[in-house]
Amino acid sequence: MRSHYCGEVNTAHIDQTVEFCGWVNRRRDHGGVIFIDLRDRSGLVQVVYDPDLPAVFATAEQVRNEFVVRVQGRVRARPEGTVNKELSTGEVEVLGLELEILNRAETPPFQLDDDDTSEELRLRYRYVDLRRPVMQQRIMLRALTTRSLRRYLDDHGFLDIETPMLTKATPEGARDYLVPSRVHAGKFFALPQSPQLFKQLLMMSGMDRYYQIVRCFRDEDLRADRQPEFTQLDLEMSFMDEDQIMTLMEGMIRQLFDTALGVQLPDPFPRMSYQESLRRFGSDRPDLRCPLELVDVADLMDGVEFKVFSGPAKDPKGRVVAMRVPQGFELSRKDIDDYTKFVSIYGAKGLAYIKVNDIAQGREGLQSPILKFLPDTAVAGIMSRTAAQNGDLIFFGADKAGIVNEAIGALRVKLGHDLGLMSGEWKPLWVVDFPMFEWDEGEGRWQALHHPFTAPKAEHLDLLSTAPGECLSRAYDMVLNGTEVGGGSIRIHREAVQQQVFHLLGIEEQEAQEKFGFLLTALRYGCPPHGGLAFGLDRLVMLMSGAASIRDVMAFPKTQSASCLLTQAPSEVTQGQLRELHLRVRLPQAVPEGKADA
Ligand code: AMO
Ligand code: AMP
Repeated sequence: MRSHYCGEVNTAHIDQTVEFCGWVNRRRDHGGVIFIDLRDRSGLVQVVYDPDLPAVFATAEQVRNEFVVRVQGRVRARPEGTVNKELSTGEVEVLGLELEILNRAETPPFQLDDDDTSEELRLRYRYVDLRRPVMQQRIMLRALTTRSLRRYLDDHGFLDIETPMLTKATPEGARDYLVPSRVHAGKFFALPQSPQLFKQLLMMSGMDRYYQIVRCFRDEDLRADRQPEFTQLDLEMSFMDEDQIMTLMEGMIRQLFDTALGVQLPDPFPRMSYQESLRRFGSDRPDLRCPLELVDVADLMDGVEFKVFSGPAKDPKGRVVAMRVPQGFELSRKDIDDYTKFVSIYGAKGLAYIKVNDIAQGREGLQSPILKFLPDTAVAGIMSRTAAQNGDLIFFGADKAGIVNEAIGALRVKLGHDLGLMSGEWKPLWVVDFPMFEWDEGEGRWQALHHPFTAPKAEHLDLLSTAPGECLSRAYDMVLNGTEVGGGSIRIHREAVQQQVFHLLGIEEQEAQEKFGFLLTALRYGCPPHGGLAFGLDRLVMLMSGAASIRDVMAFPKTQSASCLLTQAPSEVTQGQLRELHLRVRLPQAVPEGKADA
């Protein structure tokens, strides 16, 4: 039906007869001439209908926005002064010789060129929303991304292998989505949170290098960069150590950025320990585009009168940091109040600061509500440790380490954006040397920082029984501009170690057998050393496309409350279906109907 895509024609096609199929982006009547901007996924082209061709002109008069049409015409140069530099086809137009209406369309529920349409309306009419050029480009970038990733992996000997969707729970820290079994009354499948255990089993099967672009399901609290179902590029490799895996994987990401964006990422990616990352940036996924850093000052504060500082300074679980903001003197009282409110979201009880007006004048040259509480030595220590200069502002955080890290870590990135401090477009990083476990205060037990199949460092094996909190793992996360785009580890490949880790995590023998018996058994039948990782494909494409949310790079995402506005899923089912599944619904009493969707 067509000879070209709309966006393809240019001056090289002048005087050629062309045929397009597409949607009417806009119809304009101009002094007896009708202009139709015709759109397909490649872009727009302007088609002109002349009243001198009355039959086709009459059809053009009937056409409305979003009609689907087939056009035949002749390409010609645009008259001088009407060239549109914004369009790839802006130097030419097509004189319409034929026009066939393939289908009519009602007035769309929103204007395609209106950037302020509510997300609710966009999701309800997602097929219309996806016609918008920006959405088409994101979806095309996503396809280009998977194509590039697949090519790299195919070239490096990886096998694309599918794993079950109806399966048993895999612990990745979220709730499971369950599927009731009709055949086995009272039993349930879980949708996979990741293919973690299957990919390990594939290594035991000798598949050597596995990958899969795979849907994962996690029933967790949603945020801008989380969805209940999302896509991983999931990988596993045998007989490779973490260095080799990281090298191979960053090569893949470099190739992707080169192919898809023409961007050269550093070779190699920098690496940083978890500990250093928390110390300097308050986060294990630091945005390295921001130059601000946290500086520890607890040792300067443990004797001061100011309890806000001396308390956490003396507390082994506390932390006191200073963060110098170059040229921060420009921040007003109101700015500082707003930032104080911002850090309170993360539990910070305040945001002390010192403005550095003239360092040579000592105390007199500084301005701060807390200065009166600090002795000279502490003030001098802060100035030298932060390398403060005239015109700077120094912020402080003092609390439990976790709160300080989160609050000042987030403030760091916010200031970076607000004050235009971000430098360099792309800053990838490997974070390594994670602890195996973190202590869960609430539950009073160890939790795996990654997942329970992550191997401890060989030299830390003994710490499993003596000091689990100090035991480091063989895990690695890839971070890009402050987002964790991927993570993985070398796995435990010995049954005894796996048992020991389960035990530490409070998974007792019987539970371990019930949940992971098949894995423990498999470990006994010839398991190679292996490791791997998984990338969040949605997050990766979100970053590459500059979208603000992963919803904008998924064709059919769910809302923040985990529902689909297009299909109205989830929905009720018939009594008959429930009976077949041996289920009876018990609605919570307190929740009024429809509340869950609010
Ligand atoms: P992990 O749980 O870190 O590791 O997940 C890997 C990557 O998947 C992305 N991701 C998400 N993206 C969107 N929505 C979500 N709800 C979501 N949750 C995670 C992140 C993350 O880095 N089996 C291990 C990997 C391994 O060890 O090989 C795993 O799933 O970008
Ligand atoms: P206050 O004594 O509570 O009036 O606090 C004096 C200054 O210290 C104010 O600027 C507060 O914002 C700040 N402040 C209070 N608590 C903290 C904290 N935990 N960390 C950093 N600054 C704080």
